[in-house]
Order: sequence, then structure tokens, then C-alpha cells
Amino acid sequence: MATVIVAGGGVIGLSIAWRAARRGFSVTVADPSPGQGATHAAAGMLTPVSEATYTEKELFALGAASLERYPGFAAELTSATGEPTGFRRTGTLQVGYDADDLAVIDELHALHDSLGVPGRRLTARECRGLEPMLDPSVRGGLLAEADGSVDPRLLTRALLAAAARAGVQLIRQPVAQLIHDAERTRPGQAPEAGSDAERTPPGHAPAPGSTPAGTPGARPQQGIRPGGVRVRGVRLADGTELTADWTVLAAGWNSAAIDGLPADCVPPLRPVKGQVVRLRAPDGFLRRTVRGIVRGSSVYLVPRESGELVVGATQEELGPDTQVTAGGLWELLRDARTLVPGITELEFTEAIARLRPGTPDNAPILGPCPAAGLVLATGHFRNGVLLTPVTADIITDYLETGRLPEVAAHFTIGRFHGDHPGPGTRPEAAGRPG
Ligand code: GLY
Repeated sequence: MATVIVAGGGVIGLSIAWRAARRGFSVTVADPSPGQGATHAAAGMLTPVSEATYTEKELFALGAASLERYPGFAAELTSATGEPTGFRRTGTLQVGYDADDLAVIDELHALHDSLGVPGRRLTARECRGLEPMLDPSVRGGLLAEADGSVDPRLLTRALLAAAARAGVQLIRQPVAQLIHDAERTRPGQAPEAGSDAERTPPGHAPAPGSTPAGTPGARPQQGIRPGGVRVRGVRLADGTELTADWTVLAAGWNSAAIDGLPADCVPPLRPVKGQVVRLRAPDGFLRRTVRGIVRGSSVYLVPRESGELVVGATQEELGPDTQVTAGGLWELLRDARTLVPGITELEFTEAIARLRPGTPDNAPILGPCPAAGLVLATGHFRNGVLLTPVTADIITDYLETGRLPEVAAHFTIGRFHGDHPGPGTRPEAAGRPG
């Protein structure tokens, strides 16, 4: 049986582990506190339409492909474990507060049209008809009926249970270092007689280890340069060494900090802090996710069936800082109250900050890198929860077949090394999400 180590136990790492175990791999996840990173703060919006921008069309397509998989993914998890995920498909209402904010909504509407996505432009009265708690000053909005949401904390619990049932071993330790073979041949040099590089077609290396053909992981990997290193497993923080045929890097923004990453496999990641407030609301306070633009700044309110209302989120580039600040919470509550004045009456339950794994083009990094045996599944930035099902499918397909599904073609690390232009060219400016 081919073996896989997944570094990172957020929703991305756990879903890959679960799916891979279901396909016959022997899987270990290493994470000191699974589900306690970015996942723990995430609101769980499933909104590829509302998040799309003109320069991120491939990212929109990836998000749409993932949203399509969510109903089946959530149902499968619940039937495997009996655990709920909080998945619901109630839509997103995006509203503008003043005339300039409404102009942004109109631009979004045009973008929806260009993507062929149904988005219904609504008058102020229609918005309030859908969400009576909205302030009368709200100018109008756009309804994306296909959007949904999920509760990332419930999702984590369900994934942990499903992974355990599928035989995944969880080790509560961080991965400190990759273990790999030293370079054996230099590019341009003939490989050693009988070596793996010699036995495989140019540009390919075989799956590491001695996995027999016909079992998962036996196919050749794409895009590996002859002479590159081969990752054989990981060393944990306590010094324990774990060897595996495949190592999957899914440790969020920490992924780049793991020692021993070959230079051309280091994901270009930066931590982007998000502060979030949780409130408790009476039944029906809001019926769907409301995203608002208030005098140019963005805020979202995500209601859950449980009565929880998540208000988010700041977007701050301050390095690895997770302090909850008075200023961050004030901005969130100020903008949320402008749109929905009734929130001031709600019970406050939690304030939290976590770090999103940001990339230069806001898109994730998926699939192989020039080190054999190493697969990347990181850099999901603001879309980790949305992209969970599609990422799990992409990575497990790759582990099984050695080929990346078409939907992932734009998202390999090669785009940062000039292999192709990648999913978009506009780096997102610091500030609140739009
Ligand atoms: N996906 C929303 C956020 O990152 O704030």
C-alpha cells in the first residue's frame, strides 16, 4: 500500500487525508492542533460568485467547481460519520451602502454576466424584502442565489471523524523538516545506469518508494526534472522520522517555513491576518449571507442554523501576528452596524484572529513541484473552506494517477517560475476584502 504523509490538519489537509485513505493509501496527518489554524476563524462562506474579480477568472472557475462538489462532499461526510457540517445553500446578498458602493455592486453584476453566472440586481426595497434587518439607507444589491455556507468547525469535526474511520493516523506534532535524497544527477547529465531517472520518460520520475504497479501511487509524476531531489518523508518537531512515498504540504501559511524544501518548491506565502467577531442571533435574524460595501470597505455577516452570526473580516499584512485588536473589532462592528443596526442588541460570544495563507496572485498552489514525492496543497488565502472539496479531489487524483486534473492546470507552483502566466496577475492590495 502506498504511503502518504500530510503536513497540516486544517480542512485542506484533513480532506486530502480522508479522500486518499478512501482510495487505498495509508495516510498519516501531522499537526499539533488540527483545525485550529485559519479554519478555526473562517466564516465558511461558499461564494465563488461574490468573491470573483475580473483578473481572477480561473480562480472563480475553481471555486465554482468546488461549490458544485459541496452538496455531495458534505452528504458523504455526514453519512460516513453522523456528524453535521452546517452546509446550506441559502445564497449571498451583496449590498451597497452609498452611491459609490452601489457602483461597485453594478460592476460586480457586469462581472457575473461576463462569467455567465446568474446574479439578480435588486432595488433597496427588494433587498429589505429579503432581509428586513437591513438599514433603510442601503441603496440596492445583488443576489447570488447559488452561493452557500458551511460551519468550518463542524466541518473539521466531521473530517477528523471520517479520517479516523478511514484509517488515517493523526500525530499531534508539527512537521519540522523534509527528509530527502541528495541530488544524484545534475540536469543535462546522463542518469546512473539502472536509476529511476533512466527508467522513466524524460521529464518524469517514478513515484518514490517501491510501490508495485497497479496500487495507488504507482504512476509516474509529472514535471519532475531529472536530477532533482526526492522527498522521502518528514522529521517531526520531536525528532521522529516518518518515511512515506508521498508528502503533501498542506500546512497553511506555515508550509513555507518547513526546513529542507528545495528552492523551487518553496511556496511564496505570506500571512494575512483576519479578525472575526461571533455573535448570537435569534432565529431568522438574517436568512442568508450578507456582504456589504460600506463607504468603500467590505464586511460580511454569515448566519448559521445554530444562531451563530459570524462578522468578518479584517485583512491585515502584519507578519505572523494573531492579536485581536480594538481597532479591528471596532471597524468590523462599525460597518456591520451600519448595514444591520440590530446587531448591537446581539450577544457577543467570541473575537478571534487567524492567518490566511496569501499568495502573490491570491490563488492556491496545487500539485507537484520539482522534487519527486512532494505535492503542494497550500496558499488558499481567502478561499480555503470553499476550495476544500475540489482540492481534495485534485490532490488525490494526482496521487493516484500521476496526472493533474485540468481544473488545476493554472495552479501549480510553476506559474511563479515562468512556466505559465497563472490564474491572474493583479496582486491584491492590503486592506479589507472586496
Ligand atoms: N473568505 C473570507 C475571508 O477570508 O475573509
